[in-house]
Amino acid sequence: MSEARLRGPMRLGILLSGRGSNFLAIAESIKSGRLKGVEIAAVISNVADAPGLKAAQELGLQNAALVSKGRKREEHDRAMIECLKSQRVDLVCLAGYMRLLTPAFVAAFPNRILNIHPSLLPAFPGLDAQEQAIAYGVKVAGCTVHFVDNELDHGVIVLQRAVPVLEGDDGHTLADRILKEEHLAYSEAIGMVASGEYEIKGRRFAKREAGSSRPV
Ligand code: GRF
Repeated sequence: MSEARLRGPMRLGILLSGRGSNFLAIAESIKSGRLKGVEIAAVISNVADAPGLKAAQELGLQNAALVSKGRKREEHDRAMIECLKSQRVDLVCLAGYMRLLTPAFVAAFPNRILNIHPSLLPAFPGLDAQEQAIAYGVKVAGCTVHFVDNELDHGVIVLQRAVPVLEGDDGHTLADRILKEEHLAYSEAIGMVASGEYEIKGRRFAKREAGSSRPV
């Protein structure tokens, strides 16, 4: 992270493909003062008519549609990196971004990409995690905010929030219950990263020891 960043708020780049409820929860946390030390530098969607992108426009946030359909993954990611760098983004937050990132993208923001996934990882990575949880018969489900690495839904876990699976739940009712927790979890996780009080130690995101230097 640059010295300039240490003087100002951490700049978030939000990537989304759909309704954007996690993005809106983050924006609301910042507005209400619950999430401090960060600002939304850009909202980028790979889907031109994503409701989340429209919401960003209505909020007057810097936004862009970089449509991925029909474009090679590498070429699209190059455009995304350029856009994020031009907005001096420090931390990329995937918020319902339904496209795998290339290794080049991950390398462009080392340990600076977060994702939220609607399961208690490492259980149920990939699509339809809530349906997978119902099908498996688990009694506890939840969400995970994690750093992004080159494997799907695999990077170091920042935090998780759990919910019960109730009698009669289906994928939809469970998804609704998990989503409420996602909206709390993402802001809390961003706050932890922005605080500079935690560091990645192996697979753990843990409190920095007293006296250990902060990242630059
Ligand atoms: C959420 O369930 C999130 O965990 C997953 O995609 C969904 C996005 O929802 N990655 P929204 O667009 O933030 O409302």
